[in-house]
Amino acid sequence: MYRPLTFAATLLSVVRGQLVGTETTETHPSMTWQSCTAKGSCTTKNGKITIDANWRWLHVKGGYTNCYTGNEWNATACPDNKSCATNCAVDGADYRGTYGITASGNSLQLKFITKGSYSTNIGSRTYLMASDTAYEMFKFTGNHEFTFDVDLSNLPCGFNGALYFVAMDADGGLKKYSSNKAGAKYGTGYCDAQCPRDLKFINGEGNVEGWIASSNDENAGVGGHGSCCAEMDIWEANSVSTAVTPHACSPIEQSRCEGDTCGGTYSADRYAGVCDPDGCDFNSYRMGVKDFYGKGKMVDTSKKFTVVTQFIGTGEAMEIKRFYVQGGKTIAQPASAIPGVEGNSITTKFCDQQKDRFKDRYTYKEKGGTANMAKALAQGMVLVMSLWDDHYANMLWLDSTYPTDKNPDSDLGSGRGECEVTSGVPADVESQSPDATVTYSNIKFGPINSTFG
Ligand SMILES: *[C@@H]1O[C@H](CO)[C@@H](O)[C@H](O)[C@H]1NC(C)=O
Ligand SMILES: *[C@@H]1O[C@H](CO)[C@@H](O)[C@H](O)[C@H]1NC(C)=O
Ligand SMILES: *[C@@H]1O[C@H](CO)[C@@H](O)[C@H](O)[C@H]1NC(C)=O
Repeated sequence: MYRPLTFAATLLSVVRGQLVGTETTETHPSMTWQSCTAKGSCTTKNGKITIDANWRWLHVKGGYTNCYTGNEWNATACPDNKSCATNCAVDGADYRGTYGITASGNSLQLKFITKGSYSTNIGSRTYLMASDTAYEMFKFTGNHEFTFDVDLSNLPCGFNGALYFVAMDADGGLKKYSSNKAGAKYGTGYCDAQCPRDLKFINGEGNVEGWIASSNDENAGVGGHGSCCAEMDIWEANSVSTAVTPHACSPIEQSRCEGDTCGGTYSADRYAGVCDPDGCDFNSYRMGVKDFYGKGKMVDTSKKFTVVTQFIGTGEAMEIKRFYVQGGKTIAQPASAIPGVEGNSITTKFCDQQKDRFKDRYTYKEKGGTANMAKALAQGMVLVMSLWDDHYANMLWLDSTYPTDKNPDSDLGSGRGECEVTSGVPADVESQSPDATVTYSNIKFGPINSTFG
């Protein structure tokens, strides 16, 4: 919801010549998934994983000089947006050694902190590919469901193991922007409903001019441009709290924005842009059901479980429904326990009631609401799997009381989980839980009731 998206970008403080050994051809890890037509009738697909370009070593073309170090640009290599793109190259990735990303069979594990000899990587953002040069496009054309298993027993307060869809271009913008020579192969073209401004390249140009280095993130900054597109957060979670959240944007497709008119987490006015940064979320704890999700609860996050998300119907009438499967039992999302907010799924009526009761701004509706989200899903979206901590709001919007000065017992909607309001500070999370991991596996996509049970 307030998902701020500083996926702490990498610190690749590469010593001159250090990357000779790993300045290697890009080899995408393989990850299988299943496309189903009916229950028991699924075909295995050989997918691949790529890491987002923001995490990659960015260096002067043909050499070993950094174009970007820590959270600052090299002013010689990158005096302006355009020359930065012609001077600098992103490199292939050592997935396991540099980024702590391991894929095996139908499973993908992301490790939080990976210390190499010359670099420390924090978190990651990966995309599922159909080939070495194109992202897989999932098209939810009405009555589809998406299912996966997750193990986040090792993700405490402050983390977000996120699996979601965004309306990126299938080729990462390669065709649209001739100065982008890297494309999906190297994880380019990211966008989401926060219109992120921490991206180093947008539309084939550097995000150099206007860049301000972060004061609390040694790897990130905020540039003069942002990159917007519709976003369907199937899963934002740790072992304490979880939310499913559609975010509408108009236009749906990737578009570049300027400065504070981007809106979202990175801008002075959160609501200034073309996207809905808040979404219409269903977090069972926030909806008043506190014994449902967590360690030892109905959905026991100390063990692996299956997450089913159904998109039933089309247009404004689309319903987003959630089931869990654990220990052979199918467990429905519990109905809201907030008086005046009905149901256990996300519908236009649920959003109307929830925004009203929680007194939240209803940008979801302003940007086209469920009709817009349904259209984005039908056009096709890219699957993102990531692990991050939050340099803007300590993930308290997901797992604690937020805003932090509210009383969770009397201010409806402010209680989102059991984490302390002092938890989730990135410096603490990074020093206390460097070995946190999330594992996504057994992805299935198909018509309603084809992928589980
Ligand atoms: C910046 O890039 C130039 C080449 O474009 C290089 O000579 C210089 O050493 C780099 N500076 C740093 C701090 O890496
Ligand atoms: C570079 O991007 C900034 C915004 O980040 C923009 O204001 C500026 O006009 C761009 N420069 C050029 C030469 O296009
Ligand atoms: C899917 O299964 C549920 C529970 O068994 C059932 O209520 C629903 O009608 C089914 N939907 C379809 C489209 O088969």
